[in-house]
Amino acid sequence: MQIITSPAELQKICLQWRCEGVKVGLVPTMGYFHEGHKNLMKIAREKSDKLIVSLFVNPTQFGANEDLDAYPSDHEGDANDARALGADILFIPKKGSMYAEDHATWVEVPQLAKGLCSVTRPTHFRGVSTVVTKLLILTLPEYAVFGEKDWQQLAIIRRLTRDLNLPTTIINGPLIREEDGLAMSSRNAYLTQEERAQAKHLNAGIQAGAEAFKQGERDVEKLKAVIRSYWKEHLPLGKEDYLEFIDPDSIEPVTTITDKARCAVAVYVGKARLLDNWPFYL
Ligand code: PAJ
Repeated sequence: MQIITSPAELQKICLQWRCEGVKVGLVPTMGYFHEGHKNLMKIAREKSDKLIVSLFVNPTQFGANEDLDAYPSDHEGDANDARALGADILFIPKKGSMYAEDHATWVEVPQLAKGLCSVTRPTHFRGVSTVVTKLLILTLPEYAVFGEKDWQQLAIIRRLTRDLNLPTTIINGPLIREEDGLAMSSRNAYLTQEERAQAKHLNAGIQAGAEAFKQGERDVEKLKAVIRSYWKEHLPLGKEDYLEFIDPDSIEPVTTITDKARCAVAVYVGKARLLDNWPFYL
């Protein structure tokens, strides 16, 4: 596995591969790998001739008071994992190499980047869309794999790839959880022992809603009430950012479930902002 730190060098190799018909699979990440990331690498590895993993804590997707400087990092461990999973290239751009000082071009998908995470993180998806577009242009992959843990992010990336005619097929990787149901996340490292013990109730609350849905409840306000009352009892350390039911593709809010809705949540527990989502499909 080659570790590449220069975007120009990465692009040169990938252009060559594209010309030769070598199929590249790309997995963009911000590092500190867990099984969720590793599973995306396995999916990409199986489908592609060459696997590229990128590791870049993208500053433009962090707000002014967010955890950019504290974001957990373990380059050595990550390199070992990527190597063991058969990566051909680990791209760790050197500081300052991804954005020129006078960088002025942004990719935005405002129709999907509203509501949910955009309410408390209004510039987040502009940063994500821009860096993902740059990575897709640098590597021109046949496939790029993104996790369903970040449902809104995935919808945005699918849309921008289609709208900009990027020559890449976007593949969904399933949301990987800890045994007790907590969605794996690099940010789970911020949880204290007490917070971690309660964090399992985030998904358990959604399951209480899913049970009511199974029993025939279709009214979203009532489903939300079931989930909130479960959290109130079992997750007192949690502070809700949002709890929404959305159309899985358009990300528009749903009030009554007639076909398919995705329950999407973000809850602060201590320093961590935990995300989860679950299908409420008829
Ligand atoms: P990061 O949070 O490191 O996640 C990298 C990829 O792993 C994303 O596609 C994310 O959805 C996926 N992922 C994270 N936790 C997961 C889990 N428990 N199960 C399945 N997939 C999971 O998301 C980002 O980085 C950045 O926004 C990025 C796309 C790299 C752009 O900077």
